[in-house]
Amino acid sequence: MNRKINGFSKLSKKAKMEWLAKVHLKNPKKGLDLMNSYMHIDQNIQKKHDEFIENTVANYYLPLGVAPNFLINDKIYTVPMAIEESSVVAAASKSAKFWLSRGGFKSKIISTKKIGHIHFTFDGEKNYLIDLFSRSKHDLIKSTELLTKNMRQRGGGILDVNLIDKTEKLINYYQLEVGFETCDSMGANFINSCLEEMAKFFRESIENEIKNVGSIDVIMSILSNYTPECIVRCEVACTIEELTKNDISESKIFAKKFKQAIEIAKIEPYRATTHNKGIMNGIDSVILATGNDFRAVEAACHTYAAKDGQYKSLTDCEISNDIFKFWIEIPLSIGTVGGLTKLHPMVELSLDILGKPNSHELMEIVAASGLAQNFAALKALTTSGIQKGHMKMHLLNTLNQLGASETEKEILQRVFSKTAPHHAQVVSAFNNLRNTQEGDFSND
Ligand code: MEV
Repeated sequence: MNRKINGFSKLSKKAKMEWLAKVHLKNPKKGLDLMNSYMHIDQNIQKKHDEFIENTVANYYLPLGVAPNFLINDKIYTVPMAIEESSVVAAASKSAKFWLSRGGFKSKIISTKKIGHIHFTFDGEKNYLIDLFSRSKHDLIKSTELLTKNMRQRGGGILDVNLIDKTEKLINYYQLEVGFETCDSMGANFINSCLEEMAKFFRESIENEIKNVGSIDVIMSILSNYTPECIVRCEVACTIEELTKNDISESKIFAKKFKQAIEIAKIEPYRATTHNKGIMNGIDSVILATGNDFRAVEAACHTYAAKDGQYKSLTDCEISNDIFKFWIEIPLSIGTVGGLTKLHPMVELSLDILGKPNSHELMEIVAASGLAQNFAALKALTTSGIQKGHMKMHLLNTLNQLGASETEKEILQRVFSKTAPHHAQVVSAFNNLRNTQEGDFSND
């Protein structure tokens, strides 16, 4: 069957679904029924989903879970998390409960500046460009006045513009680096619009003057998702004694091993990647639930993790004077207004559950979720191992994959209530149960 098509985007949604099913699926009817069954019952809501992106043919669901008992800056939150991986919500809840009785999470905004660049080349004298820039800087900012009016009224806008010389790395390459404060919005559209306006003004205003001294070529104007000056820090701390329920020597061993696990993630990129992946389990799920851009947050966090020239842990730990301190410092450029916040009903719900936080408060919550996740992972890894808890949580997924009935699930969950079975053990128990049931049935 010919899979090429012209004008696909112009087809109606129904026609797109039918084409897709007919051309790509072995059982078109089954595929169509499935796509239709994932449409929202409320046409208005479905229309919003259809219009979030292009060529929508269905919805793709993720579970929305909540982790209660998060004490952050002396306020208790129930944290919404959208994620498909079992154990993540349970781990966050467990960590939150652990720290609830030990002072909770202390989160602090360090800085909130976002950055964008006009990337350009200039083949003339560097000093000429420096002089030209200092003469045009004021007008460059002024050229965006209309665009920045509302943001300035909210306390944000353009913070500064600097000329950056990158010619040592790439011939004739310079940047205009622009700093922004975008208040409660993530600000990507705002930043990009300002940059494009500035680039246009820059090009047009210097065109005549520059003719005899060289040529300027604007390559592109775009925000950077790396935001090393938009930083949140979150910390937990308690006495070593409080770390475990058992005697102090066990607490000391736990603290020591926990710190060693962090030290490993600070020098070994193989471990650091998995370590940070676990942190991102906690971060991305809250980012998704609150309608923020998890790809942007991921990109920023991983670049930040490599800022010293080697990829390493985003968390750190200190043991001093019998106090155990564990913290995270990450770049988070997120918003609580604009974007999906008023469009996606589940995003609105998530923000309501959090008590309608502003962007700073949401940064503090997200950082706590990442730290909680890492605490749970390292606690498990350095004591019982990760599989015990994970396989227990994963049991239902395995049983669903095997096609277990509700009764079979109930029986096998009871059987494994005190152990963490491996996949093969679940399969074998399931087969035994089925055989026994079939035996019972045939005896009837
Ligand atoms: C699994 O999604 C995340 C962990 O591998 C993180 C870690 O190893 O720190 C458990």
